[in-house]
Amino acid sequence: MLKHKDLIDFTQNPFELFNNWYDLACETEINDPNAMTLSTILNNRPSSRVVLLKSHDEEGFVFYTNSNSKKGKSISENNNIALNFHWKTQNRQIRIEGQAKIISSEVADSYFNSRPRGSQIGAWSSNQSSELIERSELIDNIKKFEKKYEDQDIPRPPHWNGYLVKSQLIEFWQEMPFRIHDRVVYTLVNNKWIIKKLYP
Ligand SMILES: Cc1cc2nc3c(=O)[nH]c(=O)nc-3n(C[C@H](O)[C@H](O)[C@H](O)COP(=O)(O)O)c2cc1C
Repeated sequence: MLKHKDLIDFTQNPFELFNNWYDLACETEINDPNAMTLSTILNNRPSSRVVLLKSHDEEGFVFYTNSNSKKGKSISENNNIALNFHWKTQNRQIRIEGQAKIISSEVADSYFNSRPRGSQIGAWSSNQSSELIERSELIDNIKKFEKKYEDQDIPRPPHWNGYLVKSQLIEFWQEMPFRIHDRVVYTLVNNKWIIKKLYP
Protein backbone atom coordinates (compact mmCIF):
# COMPACT_ATOMS: atom_id res chain seq x y z
CA MET A 1 0.00 0.00 0.00
CA LEU A 2 1.39 3.40 -0.93
CA LYS A 3 1.67 5.85 1.91
CA HIS A 4 3.29 8.90 0.40
CA LYS A 5 1.56 11.55 -1.62
CA ASP A 6 4.09 14.20 -0.67
CA LEU A 7 7.76 14.30 -1.57
CA ILE A 8 10.38 13.86 1.15
CA ASP A 9 10.29 16.84 3.48
CA PHE A 10 14.05 17.20 3.88
CA THR A 11 16.00 19.56 6.09
CA GLN A 12 19.67 20.64 5.99
CA ASN A 13 20.51 18.06 8.67
CA PRO A 14 20.17 14.38 7.64
CA PHE A 15 20.04 13.24 11.29
CA GLU A 16 16.83 15.22 11.82
CA LEU A 17 15.25 13.42 8.89
CA PHE A 18 16.65 10.06 10.09
CA ASN A 19 15.08 10.65 13.51
CA ASN A 20 11.70 11.52 12.00
CA TRP A 21 11.61 8.40 9.85
CA TYR A 22 13.06 6.14 12.57
CA ASP A 23 10.59 7.34 15.22
CA LEU A 24 7.70 6.69 12.85
CA ALA A 25 9.03 3.22 11.98
CA CYS A 26 9.28 2.44 15.72
CA GLU A 27 5.54 3.13 15.99
CA THR A 28 4.50 1.05 12.98
CA GLU A 29 6.92 -1.87 12.44
CA ILE A 30 5.70 -5.18 13.84
CA ASN A 31 9.14 -6.02 15.21
CA ASP A 32 12.77 -4.87 15.15
CA PRO A 33 12.41 -1.39 13.63
CA ASN A 34 16.08 -1.05 14.62
CA ALA A 35 17.16 -3.99 12.42
CA MET A 36 19.62 -2.90 9.75
CA THR A 37 21.60 -4.79 7.15
CA LEU A 38 25.32 -4.34 7.71
CA SER A 39 27.59 -4.95 4.73
CA THR A 40 31.31 -5.42 5.15
CA ILE A 41 34.19 -6.49 2.91
CA LEU A 42 36.63 -9.30 3.69
CA ASN A 43 39.38 -10.23 1.20
CA ASN A 44 37.63 -8.03 -1.38
CA ARG A 45 34.32 -9.94 -1.04
CA PRO A 46 31.19 -8.21 0.27
CA SER A 47 29.06 -9.89 2.94
CA SER A 48 25.78 -8.77 4.55
CA ARG A 49 23.89 -9.66 7.72
CA VAL A 50 21.35 -7.98 10.01
CA VAL A 51 22.35 -6.31 13.28
CA LEU A 52 20.41 -4.09 15.68
CA LEU A 53 20.92 -0.35 15.97
CA LYS A 54 21.34 0.30 19.70
CA SER A 55 21.89 4.05 19.74
CA HIS A 56 22.36 6.88 17.29
CA ASP A 57 23.10 10.59 17.25
CA GLU A 58 25.06 13.01 15.07
CA GLU A 59 28.26 11.15 15.99
CA GLY A 60 26.96 8.03 14.30
CA PHE A 61 25.10 4.73 14.49
CA VAL A 62 26.01 2.12 17.14
CA PHE A 63 25.67 -1.67 17.07
CA TYR A 64 27.24 -4.42 19.19
CA THR A 65 28.90 -7.65 18.13
CA ASN A 66 31.70 -10.14 18.63
CA SER A 67 34.95 -8.74 17.22
CA ASN A 68 36.14 -12.28 16.40
CA SER A 69 33.12 -12.84 14.14
CA LYS A 70 33.28 -12.60 10.36
CA LYS A 71 31.98 -9.03 10.45
CA GLY A 72 34.40 -8.12 13.26
CA LYS A 73 37.37 -9.45 11.29
CA SER A 74 36.11 -7.74 8.14
CA ILE A 75 35.89 -4.37 9.86
CA SER A 76 39.38 -4.69 11.33
CA GLU A 77 40.68 -5.38 7.81
CA ASN A 78 38.56 -2.72 6.07
CA ASN A 79 36.43 -0.34 8.10
CA ASN A 80 34.39 0.89 5.12
CA ILE A 81 30.89 -0.45 5.67
CA ALA A 82 27.30 0.12 4.56
CA LEU A 83 24.03 0.01 6.51
CA ASN A 84 20.54 -0.40 5.13
CA PHE A 85 17.17 0.05 6.81
CA HIS A 86 14.01 -1.10 5.04
CA TRP A 87 10.75 -0.28 6.82
CA LYS A 88 7.99 -2.17 5.03
CA THR A 89 5.22 -0.40 6.92
CA GLN A 90 6.56 2.93 5.70
CA ASN A 91 7.62 1.96 2.18
CA ARG A 92 10.92 3.55 3.01
CA GLN A 93 14.61 2.71 2.80
CA ILE A 94 17.66 4.46 4.26
CA ARG A 95 21.15 3.67 2.98
CA ILE A 96 24.22 4.72 4.95
CA GLU A 97 27.87 4.50 3.93
CA GLY A 98 30.73 5.23 6.26
CA GLN A 99 33.47 3.92 8.50
CA ALA A 100 33.05 1.76 11.60
CA LYS A 101 35.25 1.93 14.68
CA ILE A 102 35.13 0.30 18.11
CA ILE A 103 33.57 2.54 20.77
CA SER A 104 35.00 3.17 24.24
CA SER A 105 35.03 0.27 26.69
CA GLU A 106 33.12 2.42 29.22
CA VAL A 107 30.14 2.85 26.88
CA ALA A 108 30.24 -0.84 25.86
CA ASP A 109 30.46 -1.91 29.54
CA SER A 110 27.47 0.20 30.42
CA TYR A 111 25.34 -1.29 27.62
CA PHE A 112 26.57 -4.85 28.38
CA ASN A 113 25.63 -4.39 32.05
CA SER A 114 22.08 -3.41 31.03
CA ARG A 115 21.55 -6.69 29.11
CA PRO A 116 19.72 -9.72 30.53
CA ARG A 117 21.98 -12.23 32.28
CA GLY A 118 21.18 -14.89 29.66
CA SER A 119 22.44 -12.62 26.88
CA GLN A 120 25.59 -11.83 28.87
CA ILE A 121 26.29 -15.55 29.29
CA GLY A 122 25.56 -16.01 25.58
CA ALA A 123 28.18 -13.40 24.69
CA TRP A 124 30.82 -15.41 26.59
CA SER A 125 29.59 -18.79 25.31
CA SER A 126 29.33 -18.21 21.56
CA ASN A 127 32.48 -18.17 19.43
CA GLN A 128 30.44 -16.28 16.87
CA SER A 129 31.07 -17.32 13.24
CA SER A 130 33.43 -20.20 14.21
CA GLU A 131 32.42 -23.74 13.22
CA LEU A 132 30.12 -25.46 15.71
CA ILE A 133 30.49 -29.24 15.36
CA GLU A 134 27.79 -30.14 17.91
CA ARG A 135 25.17 -27.91 19.51
CA SER A 136 26.11 -29.60 22.78
CA GLU A 137 29.47 -27.71 22.67
CA LEU A 138 27.55 -24.43 22.89
CA ILE A 139 25.30 -25.74 25.67
CA ASP A 140 28.38 -26.93 27.58
CA ASN A 141 29.95 -23.47 27.18
CA ILE A 142 26.77 -21.89 28.55
CA LYS A 143 26.84 -24.21 31.58
CA LYS A 144 30.54 -23.52 32.11
CA PHE A 145 30.07 -19.72 32.15
CA GLU A 146 26.90 -19.94 34.26
CA LYS A 147 28.96 -21.80 36.85
CA LYS A 148 31.97 -19.50 36.54
CA TYR A 149 29.87 -16.37 37.14
CA GLU A 150 27.41 -17.88 39.63
CA ASP A 151 26.35 -15.21 42.18
CA GLN A 152 28.56 -12.58 40.54
CA ASP A 153 28.19 -9.75 38.07
CA ILE A 154 29.23 -10.85 34.58
CA PRO A 155 31.95 -8.69 33.01
CA ARG A 156 31.85 -7.78 29.31
CA PRO A 157 33.95 -10.21 27.26
CA PRO A 158 36.94 -8.35 25.78
CA HIS A 159 35.93 -9.55 22.30
CA TRP A 160 32.36 -8.21 22.59
CA ASN A 161 32.34 -4.60 21.41
CA GLY A 162 30.24 -1.70 20.27
CA TYR A 163 30.91 -0.19 16.85
CA LEU A 164 30.17 3.40 15.85
CA VAL A 165 29.48 4.04 12.18
CA LYS A 166 30.39 7.55 11.12
CA SER A 167 28.51 8.30 7.94
CA GLN A 168 29.66 10.07 4.80
CA LEU A 169 26.58 9.31 2.78
CA ILE A 170 22.95 8.95 3.85
CA GLU A 171 20.27 8.30 1.25
CA PHE A 172 16.54 8.53 1.92
CA TRP A 173 14.21 6.66 -0.42
CA GLN A 174 10.47 6.53 -0.33
CA GLU A 175 7.97 4.78 -2.52
CA MET A 176 5.78 7.03 -4.66
CA PRO A 177 2.92 6.24 -7.06
CA PHE A 178 3.79 4.35 -10.27
CA ARG A 179 7.31 3.59 -9.01
CA ILE A 180 8.27 7.24 -9.52
CA HIS A 181 10.01 7.09 -6.17
CA ASP A 182 11.63 9.98 -4.35
CA ARG A 183 15.32 9.89 -3.41
CA VAL A 184 17.38 12.41 -1.47
CA VAL A 185 21.07 11.81 -0.87
CA TYR A 186 23.25 13.66 1.63
CA THR A 187 27.03 13.54 1.08
CA LEU A 188 29.52 14.94 3.56
CA VAL A 189 32.03 17.20 1.77
CA ASN A 190 34.48 19.27 3.84
CA ASN A 191 32.30 18.77 6.91
CA LYS A 192 29.18 20.08 5.14
CA TRP A 193 26.24 17.98 3.99
CA ILE A 194 25.63 18.43 0.27
CA ILE A 195 22.06 17.50 -0.69
CA LYS A 196 21.02 16.09 -4.04
CA LYS A 197 17.96 14.46 -5.50
CA LEU A 198 18.47 11.29 -7.56
CA TYR A 199 16.43 9.79 -10.35
CA PRO A 200 14.53 6.81 -8.99
C1 LIG B 1 16.82 -9.27 13.52
C2 LIG B 1 18.26 -9.69 13.75
C3 LIG B 1 19.05 -8.97 14.63
C4 LIG B 1 20.38 -9.32 14.86
N1 LIG B 1 21.14 -8.54 15.68
C5 LIG B 1 22.46 -8.82 15.83
C6 LIG B 1 23.30 -7.92 16.57
O1 LIG B 1 22.89 -6.85 17.05
N2 LIG B 1 24.61 -8.27 16.72
C7 LIG B 1 25.12 -9.43 16.18
O2 LIG B 1 26.31 -9.69 16.37
N3 LIG B 1 24.35 -10.26 15.44
C8 LIG B 1 23.04 -9.98 15.25
N4 LIG B 1 22.25 -10.80 14.49
C9 LIG B 1 22.87 -12.01 13.88
C10 LIG B 1 23.64 -11.62 12.62
O3 LIG B 1 22.74 -11.36 11.55
C11 LIG B 1 24.66 -12.67 12.18
O4 LIG B 1 24.04 -13.91 11.99
C12 LIG B 1 25.79 -12.86 13.21
O5 LIG B 1 26.15 -11.64 13.81
C13 LIG B 1 27.02 -13.47 12.58
O6 LIG B 1 27.41 -12.68 11.48
P1 LIG B 1 28.89 -12.78 10.82
O7 LIG B 1 29.25 -14.24 10.79
O8 LIG B 1 28.74 -12.18 9.48
O9 LIG B 1 29.84 -11.98 11.70
C14 LIG B 1 20.93 -10.46 14.22
C15 LIG B 1 20.13 -11.18 13.31
C16 LIG B 1 18.84 -10.77 13.07
C17 LIG B 1 18.02 -11.53 12.04
